[in-house]
Amino acid sequence: MFPMLRFQTAGESHGEALVATLSGVPAGLPIDQAFLDRELWRRQQGYGRGGRMRIERDTAHILSGVHHGKTIGSPIAILIQNNDWKNWQESLPVETGDPEKHKAVKSPRPGHADLAGALKYNFPEARYVLERASARETTARVAAGAIAKLLLREMGSEVLSHVIAVGTARLENAEVPWEKIAELATRDAVLLGCADADAEQRMKEQVDLVLRTGDTVGGVFEVVAHNVPPGLGTYVEWDRRLDGLLAMAVMSLQAVKAVEIGEGVSVSATLGSGAQDEIGYNRESAGKLTGFTRSSNHAGGIEGGVSNGQDILVRGYLKPISTLRRPLGSVDFATREPVKAAYERSDVCVVPAAGVAAEAMVAITLAGCALEKFGGDSVVEFKRNYEGYCQQLQKF
Ligand SMILES: Cc1cc2nc3c(=O)[nH]c(=O)nc-3n(C[C@H](O)[C@H](O)[C@H](O)COP(=O)(O)O)c2cc1C
Repeated sequence: MFPMLRFQTAGESHGEALVATLSGVPAGLPIDQAFLDRELWRRQQGYGRGGRMRIERDTAHILSGVHHGKTIGSPIAILIQNNDWKNWQESLPVETGDPEKHKAVKSPRPGHADLAGALKYNFPEARYVLERASARETTARVAAGAIAKLLLREMGSEVLSHVIAVGTARLENAEVPWEKIAELATRDAVLLGCADADAEQRMKEQVDLVLRTGDTVGGVFEVVAHNVPPGLGTYVEWDRRLDGLLAMAVMSLQAVKAVEIGEGVSVSATLGSGAQDEIGYNRESAGKLTGFTRSSNHAGGIEGGVSNGQDILVRGYLKPISTLRRPLGSVDFATREPVKAAYERSDVCVVPAAGVAAEAMVAITLAGCALEKFGGDSVVEFKRNYEGYCQQLQKF
């Protein structure tokens, strides 16, 4: 996505491992491995997860690009082992293996990539489609995103998320202070990642309901990027606009069906006078990058495709999980006769986990924009350029 920061993932849901590669990270960035593992742990949490999350204890094994605790400027490769691989070695081998042991997905599951993927790649059934389309892939994104977060911290920027809705249960006042969101991320027991205990209980009731009925739920998360300097992204070219880049990054996550920047959805029904964020100036702005102030943040920290120094707010809307314990109608790939869709162990609610994966995508996007603006082969150079820009802002 960015010439400066390139990122890819590889791996299948029941393959041996997932891999992330990230190139363009400046040399000299301290890498806290415990932080990477904590981020992976956060992605595994949330009420309504399936049996798979009890099997996996994800840890990031860094293969390259980091030595003596710091990046060396070369591509970083991270491997996350699939513990479940031991149960799949014979049915999903790299070698030809025994075809009798193959676990075919014989009827495509509505809402999954199964049918479209089988048609596209000319597979007679959907096993290989499921394997790669699965959101287990977000594990690799979270590992790469953790490195991006560490780079952003060099500018004092942080990226976290919280849950705004699960099914029909909603957090009424979604203007949650940053300190509260930061506190949520430190918890060692995650229910549904909502900042309000009453709303979270109502969200839990939604999950309990679908657990009873064999159904699933979706919801809404919000990613907040705090302390981001003004000037990331640009209006001068359509494909460098920060809002567009963030929309693509978050929309690329499995099950995200809409992305909202700030109050993008509700302001469409508001008058212009109530939808913008009025500008003020505080002459006593010691320690701040600029003295400009805002009375609100409807825009979610981005105007004209450029960060404006306010918190960046990106919401992701998740459809309900597609795999149902009471499967929907489908067709047998071989006979074309109507059958129930295949069922494979599944989550029923993933809103907090999707929020953590979206944090990674937002962090990678912002780190890419920061590298585009400040450059630097070493962190020292990156920070010097960033600090020079801060001085320029303070003199503005
Ligand atoms: C963190 C996370 C976990 C997910 N877990 C499941 C799951 O266990 N079962 C399922 O059917 N879908 C799950 N999904 C959603 C599917 O991967 C997704 O709906 C499917 O691949 C089709 O892609 P699409 O919804 O983007 O069109 C998960 C999504 C995320 C973000």
